[in-house]
Formats: sequence, C-alpha cells, structure tokens
Amino acid sequence: MTNVRHFLQFKDFSREEFDYLFERTRWIKAQFKSYQQYWPLSDRTLVMIFEKASTRTRLSFEAGIQQLGGSAIYLNTRDSQLGRGESVEDAAQVISRMSDVIMIRTFEQAIVERLAAHSRVPVINGLTNEYHPCQIMADIFTFIEQRGPIQGRTVAWIGDSNNVCNTWLQAAEVLDFNVHVSTPPGYEIEAKRAGLHGTRHFKQFSNPLDAAKNADIVTTDVWTSMGFEAENEERLRAFADWQVDAEMMRMARPDALFLHCLPAHRGEEVSAEVMDGPQSAVWDEAENRMHVQKALMEYLLLGRVKV
Ligand code: CP
Ligand code: NVA
Repeated sequence: MTNVRHFLQFKDFSREEFDYLFERTRWIKAQFKSYQQYWPLSDRTLVMIFEKASTRTRLSFEAGIQQLGGSAIYLNTRDSQLGRGESVEDAAQVISRMSDVIMIRTFEQAIVERLAAHSRVPVINGLTNEYHPCQIMADIFTFIEQRGPIQGRTVAWIGDSNNVCNTWLQAAEVLDFNVHVSTPPGYEIEAKRAGLHGTRHFKQFSNPLDAAKNADIVTTDVWTSMGFEAENEERLRAFADWQVDAEMMRMARPDALFLHCLPAHRGEEVSAEVMDGPQSAVWDEAENRMHVQKALMEYLLLGRVKV
C-alpha cells in the first residue's frame, strides 16, 4: 500500500532523516532518564511478530511503546496461524486493520517486503537473514553519544558476513563512513546480498588484525546466526582465529569502542577480557535499542515533531 513509510532496510531512510532520528533519540532518552512522562502514542498499538527467538528486540519494543503511552501485542509462529500456513499477505491485511505499527523478526527479507506491501501501517524489520537495521541505528547512536559524529570513521567488522554486517555496509553508504571486514575464507561478503553500490566505503582483509588497525569501532557477532545452527561445528573450526581479543583491540585506536549486538559467546567471537573490558560499550548499546526504536516509532506514526 502506498504512502506508508516502512523501515525494512537501513537505506530506507536518508542521512538527513537519521540526523533527525538521532537528535530525537537523544531527547527521548533524556526524558526517560529524568522520569518525564511522554505519551505521544497513547492508544496506539504495536504488533510484534516473532518467527525467531529474541530477548532485546522484544523487550526494547515492548517497553518502548509502553513508555510512549501505547501498548504491544506479541505473536509468534508457534501459536498463531502464521505457523499453520496462513500467508503473510493475509496476515498483513488483518493485523494492519487492528494495529498502528508492526514489527517483524523473520527469515528471508522477502517476507518483510511482502508483509509491508500488504500492510496499511508502517512495518519495521526486527531482524531478517539479510538485515538488522534497528540494531545498527542503536550502534551508531551509541558511537555518536560517546565519541561524536560517525562520518569518516572506520568500523572493523570481524567474523561472519551476516545480517548485522550487511547492515553496517548499508549504513556506511548512507552515513559516509568506512567498514573494514575480515571473515574466514569461504565466508566473505556477497556484494549483491549486502546491497552494495560500490566499494567506496568498504574493504575486505584476510587478516583480522589488519581490519582492526586504526579502527574507531571494533565489532563482531555470533559465529552461527539463527537459522544456521546445522553449520555450528564447521563454523567453530573455521572462525577460531577471528576472535576479538585484547591483541586485536590494541590494533585499533586507543579510544576505540567494542560493540556487539548480543547475545555474545565469550571465548568464541569475543574474549571475556574485551567483552567485559573498559572499551566495551555493549550494555549502553543494548539499552539504546529501546531509545532509537522509540524515536523510530514516533517518526513512523507522527512524522517530525517539533524538537
Ligand atoms: N541484538 C538483538 O537483536 O538481540 P535479541 O536477539 O535478543 O533480540
Ligand atoms: N546475527 C545474529 C544476530 C542476533 C541478534 C542472528 O541473526 O542470529
């Protein structure tokens, strides 16, 4: 349906819109921190559809909409008709007649595209096999909050070229920063899948230490994403040298942040020393999911509000 804005990929918004959203996030977060009630979405309902597990995404969306005065309804594949073959198109028609905004976590990106195409209300991608745009909004907000503008900075992505990595690459195009990626052989980025328009903002390195060199952010994610569990053993072997540890952090700038979307596996993609060390901003990053998503829902439902 036309005239409805969705957030299905990072590139759905312009740099100018992200500037606005990050400013809004700052204000919304400050209200929350000072116990100021702010209910612009009272009577609005968020429907959350989960076809994969979640802790942070569910929590941050549900707490977020409640803090804006609205309410959330949780659906999952197991106990809704979605798990029994009702099409996503039909589900979109029905859900969007009873709600104001939909968040979905699912498998292929095509599923969220089909849902959005048949929805009367905005649809938000809460993670697909291809992308995790809300996560990267939170990550970038965290960096801006703690270190200033991201433009021209360098992000080192160490590990799997997965949904979170793809989203960093898109964000680099939109917001004009660099991503240095190192993956084990055989797990390199498929340029097409990452939606790359070129390689201006992105370089691949076979040695992860080279990717981390002079980075402003060092980040990683699980070696085995949801849906790829059958490959776990093989991945444990292939990724063994791609752990973010203290040696790798020393390659980065002295004030570099370590980020991880979580959940983390200490001793696999990150050492406990880095995860729990002074450069780690992972808990702020997790909290910021809620603040950026509140700004996002406000924007999708109300448009720009006067700051
Ligand atoms: N980072 C993230 O999306 O976490 P969950 O899988 O717990 O939602
Ligand atoms: N890449 C991970 C992210 C989890 C938040 C996954 O898709 O399982």
